[in-house]
Order: sequence, then C-alpha cells, then structure tokens
Amino acid sequence: MSSVLSPEMKRRAGGHDIRIVLDEATIAARVRQLGAEITAAYPDGDLLVLGLLKGSFIFLSDLVRQIDRPLNLDFLVASSYGAGTVSSGVVRLLYDPETPLEGKHLLIVEDIIDSGRTMQHLLTLLQERNPASLAVCALLDKQLLPEPIPELRWVGFPAPPAFLVGYGLDHAENFRHLPFIGDLI
Ligand code: IMP
Ligand code: MG
Repeated sequence: MSSVLSPEMKRRAGGHDIRIVLDEATIAARVRQLGAEITAAYPDGDLLVLGLLKGSFIFLSDLVRQIDRPLNLDFLVASSYGAGTVSSGVVRLLYDPETPLEGKHLLIVEDIIDSGRTMQHLLTLLQERNPASLAVCALLDKQLLPEPIPELRWVGFPAPPAFLVGYGLDHAENFRHLPFIGDLI
C-alpha cells in the first residue's frame, strides 16, 4: 500500500502531509464484507440503520449500498461531552430520528470508537426506546476499553493509536472528503 500522497492528493489535503493507513481499495473490500455479514445477521424484522453524524457519513453511504435487504435509514446527532464533564448522562441527542425506534432492529453506524464514551452513553439512551435489538457497526476501533462494548458487533479495522483523518473523519472539520484514511504527520 502506498503511504506517500500523490501531488494531487496533497493539494486536496491543503498541502498537509498525511500517511495513508487504509487506502480506498482496502476500505471498499472490507465494507463489502461488512455489508454481507449484516445482511445475513438480519433475516427478518424491521432494520433501521442510524448513522451517527458527522463522522460516519461516507462509511454509512458506502455500507448501506452493500446491505442486501430492505432497511430504513436515519441519522443521530449527539452533543459531545463538554470538557471537564465527568458525570453520567452527558450525551444528548441534538437530532433524534423522526421514526419510532420501538420494536425495530437498530444498527448504529459510527466512524471510530476512541474512549468509547460517546457510544456507551448513546447505547444507554437508545436502549430506553425498547428496540427489538441494538447493535453497532464501527469502521474503526482504537481498542482502548478494558472490556469491549457488548453491542459493538462489527468493526471494520483496528485503529492504530494515531489521529486519523479522511473517509469522513476530520481534524477541525478538515479532511473529511479524502477518499482514504490517513495519519496526520
Ligand atoms: P470517544 O467517545 O472517545 O469514543 O470518541 C469518539 C468520537 O471522537 C468519534 O466519533 C470521532 O468523532 C472522534 N474521534 C476519536 N478519535 C478520532 C480520530 O483519530 N480522528 C478523528 N476523530 C476521532
Ligand atoms: Mg464521530
């Protein structure tokens, strides 16, 4: 896998040096596998795929096109926990799906699990809506948690301990549009 940006990509990245960690073809192959596994995991029932904005938007759009069954799609926007906040219940939904969640298979699509705090708070909140099932598909997992989150059923790739950008992931809202995942250097 090439780890040096072409001059065109470097220009697209605003002149920043980025080391490619996962290239487009590698991501696409894994997304196809995840789509097949998700298709097989939900033989019946109503499937509602919930993309956690903004980071998941590219992964979400590629993933749902690899899921070979009927589904509904909506989004979640969660408030990030404020700096210095230690107490529980710190994640609020800034956008809540229009459709009722009760009795549906909920599949949350997330870009990256870092500390896992966002996801843990969100799962607690969604469990209260009485879904038929609740599962998470994350593209990347930094694997920092001592115990894996039980609902984290699909992970695209383990993530290196670096700050990753591209394919939806940002640094200060930059780099989301890059077609690969890279490490800012
Ligand atoms: P957590 O609550 O610590 O797991 O943080 C998860 C969120 O932080 C992700 O949904 C991302 O929006 C953001 N994040 C964590 N690590 C990275 C990274 O390496 N690059 C870009 N965003 C990240
Ligand atoms: Mg995110």
